[in-house]
Amino acid sequence: MKKKLHANNFDLTKVPFDLYTDENIFQEEYDSIFRGPSWSFLGMESQLKVDGAYFTTEVTNIPVVVVRSPSGVRAFVNRCIHRGSLLCLEPEGVLSEFSCVYHGWTYGLDGALTGVAFERGINGDGGMPESFDKSTHHLEELRLTNYKGLIFGTFSKEAPDFSAFLGPEISPRLDRVLHKKPVLLGKATQVMHNNWKLYVENTRDSYHASILHTFFTTFKLNRLTQSGGLMISETGANHISYSRRGKSDNHDGYNKQNLRANLDDFRLSDPSLLNFLDEFNDGISLQILTIFPTTVVHQINNSLAVRQVIPRSESKTDVIWWYYGFEGDSDAISSLRQKQINLVGPAGFISMEDGAVGAFVQKNAPHSSHNDAIVCMGGDDYKSSSSRVSEAAIRGFWSQYYDMMPPMN
Ligand code: FES
Ligand SMILES: [Fe+2]
Repeated sequence: MKKKLHANNFDLTKVPFDLYTDENIFQEEYDSIFRGPSWSFLGMESQLKVDGAYFTTEVTNIPVVVVRSPSGVRAFVNRCIHRGSLLCLEPEGVLSEFSCVYHGWTYGLDGALTGVAFERGINGDGGMPESFDKSTHHLEELRLTNYKGLIFGTFSKEAPDFSAFLGPEISPRLDRVLHKKPVLLGKATQVMHNNWKLYVENTRDSYHASILHTFFTTFKLNRLTQSGGLMISETGANHISYSRRGKSDNHDGYNKQNLRANLDDFRLSDPSLLNFLDEFNDGISLQILTIFPTTVVHQINNSLAVRQVIPRSESKTDVIWWYYGFEGDSDAISSLRQKQINLVGPAGFISMEDGAVGAFVQKNAPHSSHNDAIVCMGGDDYKSSSSRVSEAAIRGFWSQYYDMMPPMN
């Protein structure tokens, strides 16, 4: 076992608060995780319909452009190799070559440097030296996986194959919500005033969901008393939490806890918001799937989205919600998906509170230097279980995190 960041992190049930606040740790994560052997979600193939179609995105603060070229989908750091200017300035479009605004250098869709303005100077005066060979220069390229229409990239040659990284427990669950070709419906960005790991932990925290989110509990979309479970990959890196509406839901469990989340006398004027079409034919109405480090894919009733977590600094994070449906969706399911986009996102009935609690923790974290967060609900390991009253998936995250980060004091 590799040495850990903190001695007490041999114990996965404790998380030192300075992991959320230390700028040096954020820098180390940049080098060891985001530029290291991990896969980051970049976008959807459905955005790239023709050769030359591109979109820009980011992996933490590294700008990236993803383009369909005649040799397939490719991704490059969105940065000119001459003096480092941003290359593509628009969020998306179609182009025949990349052209830098600063000094006009051009690149093919394969990233090869094709043109240097005034390369030979004027009338042989000035210009690049004879020894400068364009063919040896290329945009920095990422390794890509196109997983059933979702595009993931890594900067590392050492990153394991994406499917192997997902593991046999999780890949069928990702396939489940990609059973047809995914089509992007729209995007929204949620700004979080907290460290990225607080949000990623939150998405693995099945314990909080029906306690913090009054909408979930009041309208019985997700309760810990419903049948479901947690599945965690062998490495701890990836997980799903899932539940079925209506099965074995003993509402007394909530009444006895006297929780603020249980607002029995609230009604919706348009209850069709809560409709559920069992499109995957398994009765599962909620599945939250996480892929280390920063990808979440959710199904909440018929709302489907990939959440791309973009760490900005040790205390700022953007979450981009990529709402999707499937090619060939019926009108009925399309309109239900659109309606249920209201459940999640920056102003979502469910997810607003996650932004608030992340900021509450971040604000207090610097004042807790001698304390660790406690994550021992459900044991001290990260095994799959039928109970979601558990923090096992959070412990799985930390196990993978410590494996990827170098030793520190
Ligand atoms: S920085 Fe791009 S051409 Fe000079
Ligand atoms: Fe939440």
